Amino acid sequence: MPSLRQVVRGTHGILEGFQIPDSRLEAEVMVMNTMRMPRQDLFANQETEVSPQQEQELAEIIERRRKREPLAYILGYKEFYGITLLVNSNVLIPRPETESMVEHALFMALMGMETAELVIADVGTGTGAIAINLAIHLPAAQIYAMDLTDEVLDVASYNVRAHNVADRIMLLKGDLLEPLPQPVDLIVANLPYVPSQRIPTLQPEIQWEPRQALDGGEEGLDQIRRLLEQAAGSPLEDGDGGRLPGRLKDIGIILLELDPEQVPAVKEMADRLFPGAETSVEPDISQRDRIFVINRGQMLSP
Ligand SMILES: C[S@@+](CC[C@H](N)C(=O)[O-])C[C@H]1O[C@@H](n2cnc3c(N)ncnc32)[C@H](O)[C@@H]1O
Repeated sequence: MPSLRQVVRGTHGILEGFQIPDSRLEAEVMVMNTMRMPRQDLFANQETEVSPQQEQELAEIIERRRKREPLAYILGYKEFYGITLLVNSNVLIPRPETESMVEHALFMALMGMETAELVIADVGTGTGAIAINLAIHLPAAQIYAMDLTDEVLDVASYNVRAHNVADRIMLLKGDLLEPLPQPVDLIVANLPYVPSQRIPTLQPEIQWEPRQALDGGEEGLDQIRRLLEQAAGSPLEDGDGGRLPGRLKDIGIILLELDPEQVPAVKEMADRLFPGAETSVEPDISQRDRIFVINRGQMLSP
């Protein structure tokens, strides 16, 4: 039977041959999962033998990966901001750049809100990645986590229960802020923002992810525009139905994840819908302008 060392090396070579990015790391993760072994054991037990059943299991993973199915879907989980989340093909795989949204939301909540119990909305929650981390780190916060379908909310619900925050996260089904029962202090939203025509040009793994999690319409801004209108309670264009009750409190903050190219267009929308609010842009972990902040009141300037 081959040793762990040989199997990792062989898997790495196969993945490299398929031109899988980060093939060394992926090979190690695949073998760790097949062997049900934490990372440190993989290196400490390099001469351990790999059984034929384990080799077969690994071969099945490699075959799925050959078709460029994302590793997170194959394994059924993804690490995000220090927690493990269940994922399946109904939800977007949480990205490292979104961890910066969590960082900024926590910074603002912890530094800016001294007494009140925060009410937060995570719009387009997917796995629940953002909402769950906010609930873990903000024990007094009440969080609404919203998405469009039962299939997505089933995944979020599993993750919310797995991380013991079900008492503070209320899952709601519906379009953007519509299901919210009350105005909130903080809106965090990583909505679809890829322009429709760009999606087919992106890497093969992304094609496995749900279109409703990626497709932001022609400019990529359809959902963000509608979210800002709902939050403000007024349309950008006259004749779209007049004023509605706004969903953001008078001193509230909105954090949006977007593409750096979209910053000027979103700033223009924010200036029109929230006159007098401060806007700013914060970098993600790769130092790209990724988080757009609309600060309506005196909570805190970032
Ligand atoms: C880019 S994914 C983000 C998922 C998760 N928040 C994250 O950061 O990993 C966008 C999410 O928004 C949801 N979504 C798209 N349009 C929506 C809408 N009109 N109302 C509510 N959710 C929507 C999608 O189903 C998807 O789960």
